[in-house]
Amino acid sequence: MSEREQSVAQRAAANQEKSPVTRVFSGMQPSGELHLGNWLGALKNWVAMQDRYPCIFSVVDLHALTQTSDPDEMKARIRDMAMGWLAAGIDPEKCTVFVQSTVPEHAELSWVLTTLTPMGLLERMTQFKDKARSQAENVNVGLFSYPVLQAADITIYRADGVPVGEDQVQHVEFTRDLVRKFNLKYGKVFPEPRALLTSSPRVMGVDGDRKMSKSLGNHIGLNDSADVLWKKLAPAKTDVRRVRRTDPGVPEECNIYKYHGFFSTADERAWAAEGCRSAGIGCRQCKEVVAKNINAVLEPMRERRAGLEAHPGRVDEILHEGTKKLLPLARETMGRVRDAMGIPNRGRYGIGEDR
Ligand code: TRP
Repeated sequence: MSEREQSVAQRAAANQEKSPVTRVFSGMQPSGELHLGNWLGALKNWVAMQDRYPCIFSVVDLHALTQTSDPDEMKARIRDMAMGWLAAGIDPEKCTVFVQSTVPEHAELSWVLTTLTPMGLLERMTQFKDKARSQAENVNVGLFSYPVLQAADITIYRADGVPVGEDQVQHVEFTRDLVRKFNLKYGKVFPEPRALLTSSPRVMGVDGDRKMSKSLGNHIGLNDSADVLWKKLAPAKTDVRRVRRTDPGVPEECNIYKYHGFFSTADERAWAAEGCRSAGIGCRQCKEVVAKNINAVLEPMRERRAGLEAHPGRVDEILHEGTKKLLPLARETMGRVRDAMGIPNRGRYGIGEDR
């Protein structure tokens, strides 16, 4: 390649990287009460995204079937999750919220994509390996092909931006691989999606030992009241050096100081760090400021939740509207896929509305 050609290629590559995002898709499994880890790791970012891009957010119940099998629990969790998102500030006027299984084209496209997927690629997925270990008694094929369904989630809407945390980057890269392969084999139908990384901090639970998680019971829930919040924060672990009030500590080694990092102002952080090092303040005082700031984040959520609870049909209505809006787009994509692959297009046979 000549120098000029090289620089053109480089610029093209750079442009590709910066190609504008036109449609965003992300999903979350309905796996129980939302907590501060979900907020900082994903939801906060989603709320910001909805002002910048057309966004689609999905409660991915088909994915959850690989883990949960209790029908009543499933039903409750789907609704809880949608309610939690809306309470957190996901606004159906700005974006689309729906339940994955209500658009059957996800599963349809997923099958098509499995035929392009080498087994070996799925065997390398770290989330599969982790889950196969953590639920050894239930290593189902769905767990194995989980990333293919995720790829279908993204491609069925021809989305090109996927806000995720670090742990999901491998799945988005996998989706890109499939898209390239499909486009090469059958002609260009899909854009190559890219991960829009959340600077997802590792949020530790109030035990200070492990990642915040509902199943470990070390979480602060997004619908915790101010009382419940304080009951969890008051006994929460701080730097072990601060046995007595007069013992100085090392803020960098205190989990509560990390919470200051997420929720407090620069001045408050400086106050906490200096007070900790000099034993000028006690851990309780330090926690009170964290509690005030977390409450400032949770209070609008509590209010929105109360509003939604006063109108029981509202959440279902919003989800229903989301599905209605998305079905035509999903059908159109499947029509293109069917045409490209040489399988019958239902629309052409007068038994559907693909075209
Ligand atoms: N696998 C994701 C997770 O565990 C959830 C998910 C399903 C998803 N489909 C998606 C995320 C599509 C982004 C895009 O968090």
